[in-house]
Amino acid sequence: MAYTPKSVFELIGGAEPIAAMVESFYAAVVDDPVLRPMYPADLEPPKRRLALFLVQFFGGPSTYSQERGHPRLRMRHVPFPIDQRARDNWLRHMLQAIDDAGIDEPARSRMREYFERASAFLINRADPVQIDD
Ligand code: HEM
Repeated sequence: MAYTPKSVFELIGGAEPIAAMVESFYAAVVDDPVLRPMYPADLEPPKRRLALFLVQFFGGPSTYSQERGHPRLRMRHVPFPIDQRARDNWLRHMLQAIDDAGIDEPARSRMREYFERASAFLINRADPVQIDD
């Protein structure tokens, strides 16, 4: 029988750890002065979109695409000013959220690698120029 590697979704045992990650991530966004202004006042719809996307991406049901179509993440992020600092904050909160949700190896590293790459790919603005006087 062919060997089929387990998806991250299977490794972590379903959607619940992803829901926990998303809660922890958005709790950090609320206190982040760089990121908070980019998000709408009501964070419940963004939580649902991110959770459904991650469930789908990591090998679970494809409810995200049924509701939202093709992810086209780079295009969907163009309205938001994502420079290196915004990316670093986003990534820091998400890596912390993986640990807050208690996600163990090997899923932990697979998630970390994905978020590092995907967040770098979404940078769409140069850093502000620093003027020393
Ligand atoms: C690099 C830093 C990032 C920033 C500052 C950022 C910011 C945002 C903001 C402000 C929204 C709109 C909230 C909403 O209405 O849903 C959004 C949506 C979204 N983001 Fe990010 N994001 C970042 C990286 C990422 C990464 C790496 C992923 C994927 C792993 C991701 C996945 C999503 C998804 C799935 C949505 C909802 C798209 C939709 O269906 O409309 N984001 N992001």
